[in-house]
Amino acid sequence: MRIPFIAGNWKMYKNKKEAIEFAEAFKKLYYDTDVKTAICAPFTQLDVLVEAFKGTGIGVGAQNCHFEDEGAFTGEVSVGMLKEIGVDYCVIGHSERRQYFAETDETVNLKLKKLLRDSEIIPILCVGENLDQREAGQEKDIVSAQLKADFEGLTKEEAAKLVIAYEPIWAIGTGKTATPDQAEEMCALVRKTIEEMYDEETCDKVIIQYGGSVKPENATEIMNMDEIDGALVGGASLVPEKFIEIVNF
Ligand code: PGA
Repeated sequence: MRIPFIAGNWKMYKNKKEAIEFAEAFKKLYYDTDVKTAICAPFTQLDVLVEAFKGTGIGVGAQNCHFEDEGAFTGEVSVGMLKEIGVDYCVIGHSERRQYFAETDETVNLKLKKLLRDSEIIPILCVGENLDQREAGQEKDIVSAQLKADFEGLTKEEAAKLVIAYEPIWAIGTGKTATPDQAEEMCALVRKTIEEMYDEETCDKVIIQYGGSVKPENATEIMNMDEIDGALVGGASLVPEKFIEIVNF
């Protein structure tokens, strides 16, 4: 049985005061449901969120990490540093990191291994095609190639722990959601690719989210699809009243 998992991705939004205000408001709206939830926030807001959400069941995630333990890597944050703060999740390979910060499948793979082997932090791995690739009918090849490269060398026990967010790049922050059928088709492809790489038992355990302009108005329809276990929510996770509506889809 896969438990639905709705995660917010704040990207580079909210200062400390705003993060605390969100947490206080969200805690009042949130009651323990059968749906897991988490907020993935900028590094500097993680400590206050961990503190604010203690004992509530609401998780906290980072949006990136480095794969080395320590070293001369100016501007980077290690998995050990995230462990120290007490985060539960870490987004890896978001399309914005792949596009603007030279994230590659190779570094994604190293980060997944580091998180899975040296911490209890659960990676939320993002994959997805861009508009050109979609229009050329290449979306399935692109996404399965990303998955194969990102999972390189992971054991089936490690693979089973992952959360995967299928996020078509053309639907991120554009207001253009994939139709539920398009999202379902691609999430089914993600699961099938994992089955091919490992086995049915492993692919049955992996949580697959859809991401890209998820909002209260479309969350139920998306979450009702068989292969979609959750959502990675950007813009709509910044407002407690909107995010809770998605969590309570
Ligand atoms: P969006 O972002 O919900 O604002 O489209 C989703 C994401 O980038 O994870």
